[in-house]
Amino acid sequence: MHRHDHDHDSTLETLRDALTAGFWDERYGGSDRVWSGRPNQRLVEQTADLRPGTALDVACGEGGDAIWLAKQGWQVTAVDVSQVALAKVAAHAGDEGIGERIRIGFYDALADPRPAGRHTFDLVTVSFLHVPEPDFAAVYRGVADAVAPGGRLLVTAHHPDDVTTGARHDHGPGLMFEPDRVLETLGAGPDGDWDVEVADTPVREQATPDGPLLVRDTVVRLRRR
Ligand SMILES: C[S@@+](CC[C@H](N)C(=O)[O-])C[C@H]1O[C@@H](n2cnc3c(N)ncnc32)[C@H](O)[C@@H]1O
Repeated sequence: MHRHDHDHDSTLETLRDALTAGFWDERYGGSDRVWSGRPNQRLVEQTADLRPGTALDVACGEGGDAIWLAKQGWQVTAVDVSQVALAKVAAHAGDEGIGERIRIGFYDALADPRPAGRHTFDLVTVSFLHVPEPDFAAVYRGVADAVAPGGRLLVTAHHPDDVTTGARHDHGPGLMFEPDRVLETLGAGPDGDWDVEVADTPVREQATPDGPLLVRDTVVRLRRR
């Protein structure tokens, strides 16, 4: 094996190590709440005009989005690789009195990229799941597969510009992506299966211990024809 190939393989392995149950169980086990508990701003914006139905929150973390969706009347399935995170989702949903509107399930995107049955959910949302480029197509096609005809796929992620502007630490080579990567991977366009409703890169202010930062998101909303 060439030295270059070896470096490439070990980088990929390191990136994949950060997508394992062990890594995230430790992260979620280390504190009561890793994230804010509030829903992501983009999810709130992008679901405002949708009629509640069934929703799948992929890589749901502690469930800020899933719980918010359930409160809006959606019947939610929340999946993640971390059982520690899923236990928190179930506990928070119980505390909020909407436990019967949220189901939780284990999902490992790298082991089997399809989180659910084919064409089953009115809304599939995935926020800030950054996978290595070689895994991207399989994972995002698997996730998209769960969207029912007429249903929506909502992808929210960190935009790579954040790295060049120094606003956010780099998640690793190729991990952050622009809307086009999603559109190209899914063949979204005039002849494909998807109507492109949103493909945007909006900026928002994020609070940090050092003061507010401007960060750019990738936001893609597609509707299955
Ligand atoms: C940056 S967090 C985002 C959590 C949540 N979507 C949010 O916006 O707050 C990334 C999430 O992806 C999950 N994750 C990491 N690797 C995964 C994998 N292989 N399969 C499924 N989920 C994974 C982590 O457990 C974590 O909850």
